[in-house]
Parts: sequence; C-alpha cells; structure tokens
Amino acid sequence: VTGAMETYEPRNYRREKAEYANVNWDELGFALTKTDYMYVMNWSKEQEKFSQGILTRFGNIEMCPSSGILNYGQGLFEGLKAYRKEDEGILLFRPVENALRMKIGADRMCMPSTTIEQFVDAVKKTVLANKRWVPPHGRGALYIRPLLMGTGPNLGVKPASEYTFVAYASPVGNYHEGGLNLIVEDNLYRATPGGTGGVKAVANYSPIYRALTQAKAKGFSDVLFLDALTRRNIEEGSACNIFILKGNVISTPTAHGTILPGITRKSIIEIALTFGYQVEERPVPIEEVFDAEEVFCTGTAMVLKSVASITYQGKRIKYKMGAETVAQKLYGTLTGIQTGLIEDKMGWTIEI
Ligand code: COI
Repeated sequence: VTGAMETYEPRNYRREKAEYANVNWDELGFALTKTDYMYVMNWSKEQEKFSQGILTRFGNIEMCPSSGILNYGQGLFEGLKAYRKEDEGILLFRPVENALRMKIGADRMCMPSTTIEQFVDAVKKTVLANKRWVPPHGRGALYIRPLLMGTGPNLGVKPASEYTFVAYASPVGNYHEGGLNLIVEDNLYRATPGGTGGVKAVANYSPIYRALTQAKAKGFSDVLFLDALTRRNIEEGSACNIFILKGNVISTPTAHGTILPGITRKSIIEIALTFGYQVEERPVPIEEVFDAEEVFCTGTAMVLKSVASITYQGKRIKYKMGAETVAQKLYGTLTGIQTGLIEDKMGWTIEI
C-alpha cells in the first residue's frame, strides 16, 4: 500500500461539535468522493490469519500484475452505510450481516475470511476516521466499501497465496433520480445455477455492463434480468433486488444461488411482515409482473426505489407511484430506522 502509513486512534467525539468536509451535500449522486483514510489488513500463508489492520491515507494500492484479483477476478466486495442522526451521532446499519455475507462469499471463492469482529471493527474504524465525510442528517450517507482480494501472484488457475482486505468510504446521495424505468433483458443473463450470482463476487458486475449500456442507450434506467434456466422468472436488476405487490401480498424471487441476498431486501421483508403484509419468497414468473400494482427495487446503494414502468418484448406496463404507495411506507420506515428518526426495535443499528 502506498502513501503515508499512519495509525489513527478514534476518539470519543460525541461531546465535540461535528465538523464537516467541504462537500456540496445536495449534489452527491452515487460517485466516488475521495475521503481521508482507508483500512487495510493482509493475510499470508505463513500467518494463516489476517494481520492487525491499519488505517492509512486513502490512496492507490500496489499489487503484483499476476495477482489473483487482477488475473482471475478472485475478489468480493461489500457495501454498507453510516448515517448521521439528528443529534449528529452516527449509526451503522447491520454491519454483522455484511460480515456474514462476505464470509459465505469467501468460502465460495476459496478465500480466507476475516472474523465477524475484524470486519465490524474495520468498518467502524473506517467510518470514525472519515467522520467529517458522513453527510448531515437527511442529506445522504457514508457508503463503506469493504473489498477482499487475492493479491498473491499466481500465473496458473488456483487460489492466491496472499489476500488483502481494504475498506474505504465515500459520501453518497441517490443512486438513481426519480422512479425506475426497467427493461427486461431476455438475451443476456446475470447468473446461472451453480455460479456465483448468490455472492458479491466482483466479477458478477462487469458482465452485465453490456445489457445495462444497451438499456441506458434506449432511455431505461436499469435492466431486469430473467433466470438463465427457464427464461421465465424475474431475478434482479444490475445492482438491486426486486419486489412486486398485489393486494396484501409482496413477492420477491427466492435468494437461492442466483439472487444476491440483499441486506436491504431482508430488512424490507422484515418490515413488511411487521406491517401485516404477506411476504412470499418464491420464483416470480414475468407474467405476474404484468398485473402487479406496485413494483420496487432494493439495495444498499439504492435503498428502496419505486419502479415506474417495466418494458418486456415491446410492451410497457406502468405502476402506481407516489406518497400513497406501500413502497413509500416501507421506505419511510427503513430510512427512519437507519437515520435514528424511528426507534430501532429490530436492533439493526449500531451507534459508533
Ligand atoms: C449496493 O447496493 O451496495 C451494491 O452492492 C450495489 C452496487 C453494485 C452499487
């Protein structure tokens, strides 16, 4: 890792008035704003565990051109957010869930994993070191991006001998503006049974660029993928899970292997159940999308977004939008918990 190596000891800052970086918070989209520090841990075969992590200045990382991540895509990423409360305290949303998901992904990708404690500690230290970049209450969030990469050299096809965990952070606003207009992709596929669609492998994402680019060129905001086996059931978007609502029933594709088990997805299911909705995790045939009343997408980056329309084989279906939707009610509750406006009876947030 290049750049000044320095350790950073988080202080108890709550008694101080919050200081903010010089950012136009209202113009944040979902783009990288470079922050002050990143957190790094290394794993080597000799040690068989991750080293004590360090906070170092945010900057480029150096690795062998023959590293597992660069040559064979042996890597995973996570995404989670820290929110500013009204009293300027900072809440992290469900970091243990991300730690668990990275552990499952590491097993699938033949990589060593951090412990849950190491992961959560790394995330907390990354946020505290960059706390001036956590947007003011209600004006965005600090997105934390942990990466796990095979960094040891490998010419042949096999797991790397060294690994690096890095967590960096960026303040973010909305992933998409306005409602989503989706187009169903019936030629390119995101995941296959037995593949890595159910984990957050870095290599799951660039293969969808073609579908996404084509969709955007036609004026759509995102793609909705179908399952590769039957080409009949909806799966997910390029960076989000999907839900449909009809009457009192909310349905979403089962997260078994080809669907990314989103933490926002899981949270929305739990919130919907507390509101008395019936939630079904099952294969959702594309035909059902035609007569849904509402459709919405979820993800850490996206939070929860209503779908305004879905286009499939030239036919465009429009959905209910606006303040009176179930989607809006679920969104309000989720973001209320995340930002400390609603009491967190679920035990999802950690104040740091
Ligand atoms: C997230 O929502 O955190 C994601 O991982 C989507 C990302 C690819 C932008």
